[in-house]
This record gives sequence, structure tokens and C-alpha cells, in this order.
Amino acid sequence: MYALARPLLFTLDAELAHHLTLATLSRAPGLAGLFPCAEEDPCEVMGLQLRNRVGLAAGLDKNAACIPAWARLGFGLIEVGTVTPRPQAGNPKPRMFRLPEHQAIINRLGFNNGGLDRVLENVRQSDRGAARLGINLGKNADTPADQALADYQQGMEAAYSLADYLTVNISSPNTKGLRDLQAGDALTGLLDGLAQCRSRLADVSGRKVPVALKIAPDVTDEQVRSMADAVIRYGFDGIIATNTTIDRAAVAEHRYAQQAGGLSGAPVRDVATRVLRVLKDHVGNACALIGVGGVLEPEDAVAKLAAGADLVQIYTGLIYRGPRLVGECVDAMRAFGGSRN
Ligand SMILES: Cc1cc2nc3c(=O)[nH]c(=O)nc-3n(C[C@H](O)[C@H](O)[C@H](O)COP(=O)(O)O)c2cc1C
Repeated sequence: MYALARPLLFTLDAELAHHLTLATLSRAPGLAGLFPCAEEDPCEVMGLQLRNRVGLAAGLDKNAACIPAWARLGFGLIEVGTVTPRPQAGNPKPRMFRLPEHQAIINRLGFNNGGLDRVLENVRQSDRGAARLGINLGKNADTPADQALADYQQGMEAAYSLADYLTVNISSPNTKGLRDLQAGDALTGLLDGLAQCRSRLADVSGRKVPVALKIAPDVTDEQVRSMADAVIRYGFDGIIATNTTIDRAAVAEHRYAQQAGGLSGAPVRDVATRVLRVLKDHVGNACALIGVGGVLEPEDAVAKLAAGADLVQIYTGLIYRGPRLVGECVDAMRAFGGSRN
């Protein structure tokens, strides 16, 4: 089925193909039933009971428009967003490019999204089935860096009661200054403020919603370890490794190599898995690890597990391989888990 759709979609501009696919799935979520539903491989991660270990990565469904369709494909977790407090248009087009020779995408969308009100209304209206729902939070492009905490707090307060978990995204390369939040006082100030915010919300609601930090691959091992220390110090629950890379070494000869933005897919696979390994060596079981970046084959998902991931997420692999990849990853990870026990 996807083998038929893909050549047609690939004749279109990448962002247009994306919008058409999402518009279709949003109006007709039942179409997802044409693909096999991923099997169960129950597990508990961040205190959440999950039907399997494979998730939809953030950014594919920024506005939470297609949750029922993702649930029908059998994802264990669905991460929507990144959502910013106010709606924003993102960067000028074109801003999304396919590099099929590398099974990769370069994007500089810049958190184009409908804002908290719209995204959370979509979440409220959507049946998530047996999947767990993550809401990925960001800051508006025009919010000054020293006021970033207020944007994330606003997101956390608004999304708290609707999310099974929350992600604090400080690793997109497409919002000026965002990655500066990954280090030093900016990081500790942000995590301290959000830890206090969560603690207040947990007291009021009686429910402690897990929070994960999503990090970039373009950092030194020392930076990875210091981010992990901060996550644990402030009592957060997981680290998502990684976002897209700004490194172009793997695609240097490609005609799109000099396009600004984040590179995803096969070229980010090894660096993202390496970050995972550094994290696992450093944190052990002190927090959950979610591996993302370059899962295009089931073996890639298994490699993330072997490096220490508790869960994996997929974005670019879905574009190149289609929904069948979800079930293939679940099966391979279950077999790997079985062989480990
Ligand atoms: C077009 C596009 C948009 C993305 N938007 C977001 C986003 O809004 N928030 C986020 O946390 N990650 C975003 N990502 C990053 C993915 O969630 C993922 O971390 C990264 O692409 C690596 O995984 P992959 O190789 O499976 O795509 C985006 C990726 C792509 C390709």
C-alpha cells in the first residue's frame, strides 16, 4: 500500500506531501486500518503502562490532528507538538527537503504550529485508544531567551491534565537560541522552574505527570553527562536522544547539504545511538532513555535498545518505509528483549 503511495507523494514538494497526508489521516483516520496494526509488547516506562516500545516522534503531528490514526497503527506512544504558547507560522518556505539517496530529511520548519489552545482542543477531541500521549513543549520564536521559562511553564500548566507525559524540547536547531538552553545556568534555571511548576500541578491534581528532556546530538559527551545530571537532580523522568543534527559531513556532496536546518534519518542514526550509550553509561537506571534518530529498519530499533534505550521513536523512517516499519520494530524489539531475558 505505502509502496504505491510513496512514489506519488515523492513527486510532490516534501511539505506539501506532508500536509496532504496529515489532512487525509485527520479526516479519515480509518485509512490507517489498511495497514497492519503493530502487535503488543507490554512494558512500563516512566511509570506508564505502554502497549509496546515504539513511538511516533515529535514534529510529524505538531497540531495533534491525527491521534486516532496513529493509535490505529499500534504505536505504544504518540508524541504531538512541538507546541508553542501562541500560534506561529514558522520559517519562510521552502523549508523541508528530502535526500532520498541518504534516507534523510533536512527541515527548518521552525515550530510552525497552531498554538496551545488549538493543539489541546484537538487532543481533547481525539481518541488515543491504547496509546500513551506525549505533548512536546517549546517556546515561541519571538519570546526572548531570558523569558523562555515562562513559555514552557505556560505549556506545562495548560497541557498537564491532558498528557500522559510531557517533553521539554530545547534541542531544535530552527529556533534561534533554543539550544543555548541546554547548558549552564540557562538549563538549571529552566529545569528548576519547571520542577517547581510540576510539583505544584502534581499537588493540585494528585497526579505526577512524567517529564522528559529532549536533547540534541551536536554536543560533547561531557555536555551529555551534564544534561543528564541536571535531569536527575531536578527529578525528571526521561531523556529523549536525539533531535536532528546540524552536522552535514554524512551528506556533504548532496545538492541540499547547504540548506540550513536539522538533518534527520539515516545520517543521524549513529551519532544519536552514541549519545544514548553515553547516557546509559552515566545514568544507568536513574531515568528512562528514549532513543530516536535514524530508525529506518527494525535492526536500528534493536541497536537503540542494545545501547540502553527503553523506548524508541520514529519520524523519518515513516516517510521512507511507511507505517509497516512500526510493527516490524515492535517485533524485532520484542525478540531482542526475549533473547536478553
Ligand atoms: C520535518 C521534521 C520536523 C520535526 N519537528 C520536530 C518538532 O517540532 N519537535 C521535536 O522535538 N522534534 C522534531 N523533529 C525531530 C524528530 O522528532 C526526531 O527527533 C529527529 O527527526 C530524529 O529522528 P528520525 O531520524 O527518526 O527522524 C522533527 C523532524 C523532522 C524531520
